[in-house]
Order: sequence, then structure tokens, then C-alpha cells
Amino acid sequence: MSSRLRRMRRNESLRKLVRETHVQPSDLIYPIFVREGQTEPEPILSMPGQYRLPINRLSETAKEVEGLGIGALLIFGLPSRKDDGATSCYDPNGVVQQAIREVKKATPNLVVMTDVCVCAYMGHGHCGVLNGQEIDNDATLPLLARMALSHARAGADVVAPSSMMDEQVGAIRTALDTEGLKDTAVMAYSAKFSSAFYGPFREAADSAPSFGDRASYQHDYANPRHARRELLQDIEEGADILMVKPGLAYLDVVLRARELSDLPIAAYAVSGEYSMIKAAAERGWLDEKKIVLETLTAFRRAGADLIITYHAKEASTWLNNS
Ligand code: PBG
Repeated sequence: MSSRLRRMRRNESLRKLVRETHVQPSDLIYPIFVREGQTEPEPILSMPGQYRLPINRLSETAKEVEGLGIGALLIFGLPSRKDDGATSCYDPNGVVQQAIREVKKATPNLVVMTDVCVCAYMGHGHCGVLNGQEIDNDATLPLLARMALSHARAGADVVAPSSMMDEQVGAIRTALDTEGLKDTAVMAYSAKFSSAFYGPFREAADSAPSFGDRASYQHDYANPRHARRELLQDIEEGADILMVKPGLAYLDVVLRARELSDLPIAAYAVSGEYSMIKAAAERGWLDEKKIVLETLTAFRRAGADLIITYHAKEASTWLNNS
């Protein structure tokens, strides 16, 4: 027999030689939660190993992340004040704006990304302005643009709108360009599905909707063609990076996005994915290191250039020592 596939998987040296997919720390993006008005890190119970960080600890985190070779930080803010106008989201001294400056001061070359969404800034916890019980798309756009602008002015390299309002990417791109911030990039949460995998995050960010759910703005998880239309629309509106979220259960969508566009594709291994692995590992049911490296490789194999993961620090340590 001429073809014996086992020949090239006989030992680790041969396997390494012909390995098709690689993961590096620089492919990873580490999401962090920053809470205003506290001085100590606060453990997030549903996400063991993750914390709501005070601003005064960010330089330490940024240096650690940079030292590990991780590609970027993605900042989520928990403001001390919520109101119906989400006014603290565009405050030049808001929690995220302060966090950006703190990280840039400690690590000027570390890429800083910020989440642009109002759900943590308004008491009702929805991702847009309310009009009765409805989420008002067009009333939300100027708010998102204003928030993105203030992040860019504070020094963010990439703003990442996640509220799933139509035309959010275009509104932000136009605002940035008009205000002379042409170099600030936009990472679009394009294929963001309405998902139970976000459960632990909503505890972490204190952003659960107080009534209803997010199904009128996030995608129906049964609809890959609908998600494709939004990917195409975000490309038109000027996105620099496209995102698929959640990750593991949506690798088919990652593959479709890869085939659709030459833009960088990011996949978000969301809070529920992290918590499931942690819970099983705590019980000794799964080998955490092996599972994480296998799943990160799966994201890359499906076509993701970038992976947003709460495991970024641990994974980078493992990758750097392998
Ligand atoms: C805010 C936002 C959410 C996540 C990222 N940005 C929560 C949501 O849409 O309910 C989820 C991230 C995660 O679960 O890790 N709009």
C-alpha cells in the first residue's frame, strides 16, 4: 500500500513537522472587567479565576498580559452610576476611559480594545435606549457613537460595538472619521447570537436585562444566513475585524465568515464556555490545559485569526512553555 497516513503521525517530532494549525499568545485577546469605585479585585463567582478589577490594579494586569505576549486587552466597564441616558458611558472620566489611560500609561504598545454597549450603564440592562418596552435602534446610535468617540479619545486602538443595533458600525465609523480619529479601528460583533452562554457575563458585568430578553436585537441561533447578511452589512459599513460570538457552538459560522471575507475574523469564547470548562476541571472531570488548547486550536482550524478568551493568560503560559 503506497499511502499509509500513520507514517506522519508516528511520533511527536513528525506530527509537529506537518501540523497544519497553530495557536500563539498573540492570537489571543483577554477580556477584563473594570469596576469604578473599588480598591481591591472582586472575584466573579461564576467565572473562577476572573475578577472585577479596580483601576489601580490595571497597570499590573497590563504588564502581565504584555509580558505573556497576549495580542490585546478588551475592556468592559462597570460604572458606579447608571441612568436612563447611560451618561457615564461617554464621560471622559468614566470607568473605561480611565482604564484605557491607565493601561496605555503602563504599556503603550499593548493593543487596547473596548466594548461599546450601554447595557451596563442603564438600570434596565438592555443594549439600547428604551421607548416603552421597545429598544429604539436609531435613538441608540448617537449614544454608541459618542461612547466610541470618547474611548478613542482616551486612547483605545479598537472599539468593539456589541449592542447589535442596525448601522452601529457605520454610525461609529462616521463619528470617528468626522472627529479626526481615522486610525481608530472597529471590531464588529457581527454574528452575535442571542445565547444562554452569556449567563455568567451578565453577573460579572451586572448587565442582565431587567425584563424580557435580547432576542429582538441579537441573532436567532438557528439562522446562519441571517448572520451572513449582517457580516456583509458590517463589511459595507467599514468594519476592520469581524466577530462571531459565542464561539465553540458556532464554528460553522466562523468557517462561513472566513469564506465570506478577507477581513480578520475574531471568535469569542464567551463566559459560559469558560465557566463550563472551569466547573468540569474543578471536579476533575476534564483536563483543563488539554481542553483549552484543543478548543483554541479548533477556533483557528475553523478560520478564526483571533480568539477572545478568558483563558488567555493561562493559555499563553502553557503555549510559552510548550
Ligand atoms: C454586552 C455584551 C455581552 C457580552 C459581551 N458584550 C452580554 C450580552 O450580550 O448579554 C457577553 C460576553 C460573554 O458572555 O463572555 N452587550
